[in-house]
Amino acid sequence: MIDIVIDGKTIQAEQGASLLQTALDNGIDIPHLCYHPAVEAYGACRLCLVEVTAESHGRKKTKLTTSCNYPVLPGIEVVTDSENIRENRKGVLELLIARAPKAKRVRELAAEYGVDAQAYPVSGEECILCGLCIQVCKDVMGVEALGFIGRGDKKDVGTPFDDLSKECIGCASCASVCPTQCIEVIDTADTRELPRWRAIHKLVRCRICGKAVATEKHLAHLKKTVNMDEDVRSVCPTCRREFYAKQAMAEGHM
Ligand code: SF4
Ligand code: SF4
Ligand code: FES
Repeated sequence: MIDIVIDGKTIQAEQGASLLQTALDNGIDIPHLCYHPAVEAYGACRLCLVEVTAESHGRKKTKLTTSCNYPVLPGIEVVTDSENIRENRKGVLELLIARAPKAKRVRELAAEYGVDAQAYPVSGEECILCGLCIQVCKDVMGVEALGFIGRGDKKDVGTPFDDLSKECIGCASCASVCPTQCIEVIDTADTRELPRWRAIHKLVRCRICGKAVATEKHLAHLKKTVNMDEDVRSVCPTCRREFYAKQAMAEGHM
């Protein structure tokens, strides 16, 4: 652990940790969209800008940098809000809202930073091309169902060749991390649909309470990756906990 200064306050932080995460852990808010602690930050949205002053060759230098992928280093002094930072965040938000005028979170931030959100009609795209869904699918789920497709104006995220996904297991992790909530998950009695990826999956329901447990493909994936018992796989977490609690009580452990 080392001492760093954020907004004039000395903070104990883990060397090498994400500067953004350190600030958030200490109750200091920095606007961000593409950061998620489960995956490596690669600074796609550029919203989490801060000013960092660090010593280099005996001289102090200040630079504007994204904080999610900037490591905590000894002796750094960080400013999270200044005229310069706000101007730069405003520029970033102008680009983001032009790309995704329908994204509610982007519109809220744009309004907060004085971007004329009314100039952009609420229509069209919600995806800011941050790539978080691609990273989570690949690095957390180990699936690789998604990637960037197209170029320039046509750039998008999707399945290979924008086709029906063969790889997707319907875990919905991509939807849960998407900062603009533009990945819809539609659960019916028997199916889970992710229209953005053109994927439809069969849902397995808990054999005790009937609640949706996961998709068939997700359970098969878990069987392969964590060797989960068949019996455990067909019961939802709540019923599983109750079952184990009753078992422990019957055996006199509680
Ligand atoms: S739902 Fe499909 S695309 Fe989304 S993270 Fe899971 S496997 Fe990947
Ligand atoms: S769908 Fe969501 S998570 Fe994926 S790139 Fe677009 S905004 Fe980011
Ligand atoms: S949150 Fe840091 S660049 Fe997006």
